[in-house]
Amino acid sequence: MNIDIYKHYLEDAETYKGGKTKLEIAKEHPGELVKLSSNENLLGSSPKAIEAIAQTLSSLNEYPDGSPDRLYDALYEFYDCTIPKAQFVVGNSGSEIIEMIIRGYLGEGLECIVSTPTFMPYLIFSKKIGAKVVDIPLTEDTFDLNTEAILSAVTDKTRLVFITNPNNPTGTYLSDNTIQDLLDHLPKHIVVVIDEVYRQFATVEDYSESHVWLSKGYNVIGVNSFSKAYGLAGLRIGYLYAQPRVANYLSKLVRPFFLSMLSLNGAIAALSDTSFIQQTVDLVVSGRELLYEHLDRLGITYWKSQGNFVLIKPEMNDLVFEQEMLKQGIMVRPVGNFGAKGCIRITIGLPVHNDKLVKALKAVLG
Ligand SMILES: Cc1ncc(COP(=O)(O)O)c(C=O)c1O
Repeated sequence: MNIDIYKHYLEDAETYKGGKTKLEIAKEHPGELVKLSSNENLLGSSPKAIEAIAQTLSSLNEYPDGSPDRLYDALYEFYDCTIPKAQFVVGNSGSEIIEMIIRGYLGEGLECIVSTPTFMPYLIFSKKIGAKVVDIPLTEDTFDLNTEAILSAVTDKTRLVFITNPNNPTGTYLSDNTIQDLLDHLPKHIVVVIDEVYRQFATVEDYSESHVWLSKGYNVIGVNSFSKAYGLAGLRIGYLYAQPRVANYLSKLVRPFFLSMLSLNGAIAALSDTSFIQQTVDLVVSGRELLYEHLDRLGITYWKSQGNFVLIKPEMNDLVFEQEMLKQGIMVRPVGNFGAKGCIRITIGLPVHNDKLVKALKAVLG
């Protein structure tokens, strides 16, 4: 008997290659490095989270809570008691939340719609379980959502539409009008996944978090992470909120004891750390503005950003640019593989990092 036991879409699947760590880069580039390549918080982590984690260290011999109920309570409070606890699902990072949604709704013969350039795991995770990914690219140069083309691409097999607000790597955002238009015209059974892991950095007036759409009854899932503004990327924790039936459905994918006590206590403490978030957002917003001024002066093409990063298009091969910046001690991220050909994403740091960045940009491109 010659039976092929392999699912070829899994065997041939791409794996997501995240940004390198400082340690990995330091092997080839010894010396001081500023990491502006992974959209981390250069201010550090929420001090309240660090304190809670430190206090947890003495009880690591004990199992964590079987279910993260205490975090659901904290999220309920965080959203001013407007989203019932049963509408949240917690996961080990925003990425795991995305994978959970895909496992819940997609599979062989089913489809999702994405708009590149964007966060690639939507595509990679979907293909890994045999689903078809339909890419309706953002418009060239302005990176707007092509709502009409998305609506035309919907079939009876479509289950999910992914939108990212603000978007990685472009930094662009989707206005309330754009989202309303999409939600009003999509068939009601389609779930719109709104990835809002950079939501804290959006300052424009016509930006809304997903709970606004949720409260109006739309079938949306808001994807959130503690990796960005809270500065807890190393902890791996994220959450979603959705309509009650959707949240209940996805909660079946959660394993008991899946969340470490460190993550649970760290995240609960972080949620109450409003001053750290404010400090972080202030730094990012002022850093973004200052960087625009320098980019204008240097004549480098860039896109205004609502995230903690800025997308630029240097007049130099992107991979060569990355290496030249490394020689200057700065890690940046080429994002051609996100669909942004020739572009580089740069995370906003503290003023000292931003100064070093500008000096490096001048040395490499000036
Ligand atoms: C748009 C977007 N969504 C989700 C994530 C996942 O974040 P994490 O897995 O660290 O929670 C990232 C990380 O860079 C991202 O850029």
